[in-house]
Order: sequence, then structure tokens, then C-alpha cells
Amino acid sequence: MASVRTDQKKRALVRHVPETFTRALAKYFGTGPTDVALARRQHQAYIDALEANGVRVHAIEADDRHPDCIFVEDQAVVIDGRMLLPMPGHPSRVAEQPPIADFLMAELDGVQTCTMGGEARMDGGDIIRLGDLFYVGKSSRTNELGINSLRSLLETSDMELRVIQIPENALHLTSITSTPTDEIILVPEGYLSPEDFGPLPEGCELIWIPSEEAYGCNTIGLPNGKVMVAKGYPTVHQALRERGLELIELDMSEIRAADGSLTCCSIFY
Ligand code: GLY
Repeated sequence: MASVRTDQKKRALVRHVPETFTRALAKYFGTGPTDVALARRQHQAYIDALEANGVRVHAIEADDRHPDCIFVEDQAVVIDGRMLLPMPGHPSRVAEQPPIADFLMAELDGVQTCTMGGEARMDGGDIIRLGDLFYVGKSSRTNELGINSLRSLLETSDMELRVIQIPENALHLTSITSTPTDEIILVPEGYLSPEDFGPLPEGCELIWIPSEEAYGCNTIGLPNGKVMVAKGYPTVHQALRERGLELIELDMSEIRAADGSLTCCSIFY
């Protein structure tokens, strides 16, 4: 998940692909998945890659009532021993949360947990973290009240929160950015501008990627220094290799078809 530092990615929660995956929401990168068996193979390759690179993975059973249930990132935000259980921004996704919350509360025994009430809405996919600097997307899924809940969670820490307005042609902040290391943010041209991010901490940089590779900007940096990337985004791959990073390429075609990216499929805790 995007809310932990790279060195904290020791354990990940994922959820298997439901039989109903072809009915997952799709409006941005995808027009909807068509091949559940292929999606399952791609999802298993994702799990295998995490495990082969030192991450302990726990997989929750799929729930056919919830076509989007593999996208666990949206359902819980774990930050340094605290957890926010957001109210998901799309009504069809609200009931995905209870088994994820139950698992994380049991695993993170005694974790300080905040929930959202009233009109507050947030998808975890609107959060990225660069060291102790957080960015949250204000999007069709995340509103000002939801952002205030995250602000409350962070206010007793030394961490800073900045808000980025997500353009209408993107779902989440993580749909178009990621932090493959704690010093780099990948960003597609034409979606966001340097002003959206403000001044970065010393030694950090924004890497601008052509807009046609926007999907490839979502990556997962691992504690062993390797970076999980989607196959087929050569400019992203070259930019990361030039910075000495070793890549793990995964075919994400059926997951992309449901507007899902690499980070969407896990919660690091
Ligand atoms: N299909 C992922 C989402 O729209 O939340």
C-alpha cells in the first residue's frame, strides 16, 4: 500500500479474484475484464512476486457479491501502527470492507483504528507516501471530509499531508502516480503539474512520464530494492533502470481492464 514506507513492506494482505470479476467497475483505463481465468493467473503471479521477494502474503477468499473485491488498497489505510477504515467512495464497494478490517484488527492487535462517519468518503487508492510526506487525492471517490479524517490521523505525528486535485480522467492518485522508492514519484505528463506536489524534500524528485504511459506510473517498491512494474511501459522501465533499480515485470492486462493497478491489489501492514 501506498501509505507505508518502502522498508515497512514486510506483510501484505490480498484478496482473490471473484467469479464476478467481469462486472467490476471500469471507466478509466479499462472497459471491463473479460477473462476471469487470466485475471486469476495474473493475480497469482502478483502474489508469487511478492512472496519471492520477501513479503509474507495473506490472501482472503474472494466474495462473488463484490466484483471489485480484489482492490483491497481502497479499504484500509495503515500508517505506522494506526489504521483508518475509510468509507469507500463508490456505494457498490462499501460492503467489501468488513473481512479486511477484521483481519487487520486481529493481526495488528491493539491498533488505534479510526472510522469515517457522515458524508466523509475516501478510497485508500488516493494516498501516496514519500517518506514522511503524504499526498492525498481529492477525487470522485475522496472528498474534503474524508481528507479531514486522514488529517486527524496524522496530526499527532511529524508527517505532512498535501492535497492534490485529481483530474476527471483519472480514478485515484495511485492510478497515475507512485513512489517506487522513498525519494521518487512517477507522474504522467498532462495529468498533474509540479505545482500540484509543491517543493519536495531534499534528494527527492518527480520523474515525468509521457501521458500514454500513465498506467505504468503505478509501481510497488520493495524493501529488497526491486520494483514491481506493469509490463509494456518502456519509458517507466528505462527511468527506473537508469536509477539503478531492478524491475519485476508483471502482466496486468485483465486487472487494468477493471481500472486496477499494482498497488490496488494489496495492503501492506
Ligand atoms: N474497479 C475499481 C474501482 O472502480 O474502484
